[in-house]
Amino acid sequence: MNPVPPPMESRIVRRMKILLAISTLILGLTLAAGSADANCASCHGASGAGDTPVGAAMKIPPLQGKSADAVSKHVSEAANHAQAKGKLSDDDLAAVSAFVATFK
Ligand code: HEC
Repeated sequence: MNPVPPPMESRIVRRMKILLAISTLILGLTLAAGSADANCASCHGASGAGDTPVGAAMKIPPLQGKSADAVSKHVSEAANHAQAKGKLSDDDLAAVSAFVATFK
């Protein structure tokens, strides 16, 4: 016997859940790729608190409370950020800086 197809409404709900899951995944990957590419998180930690082995060794200050302008200026100008900066387009840098500025 064929299984009874689910009623229309639940099929729509299921599709929306799948769509939501996919977009959440894409957003997560984009953010991860953004930070992983330039490796901000490898030194600064995912939360920007500097709670990584590199952060501890280099006594990295927390990124909390920085404005987007301050972040992009630092990454653009600090010699030790040239490598990370080199992996970012201007748009990427603006996006990463705006993201870091949301850290509380
Ligand atoms: C190789 C490790 C490393 C990477 C990768 C790295 N940083 Fe840093 N960052 C540091 C260190 C060490 C300092 C502290 C010394 C200094 O001010 O440059 C710092 C300082 C900063 C500061 C200044 C904090 C303050 O209180 O003055 C900002 C802003 C910053 N980083 C943002 C970023 C962003 C955004 C990225 C990714 C695009 C990034 N960093 C990638 C190591 C790193």
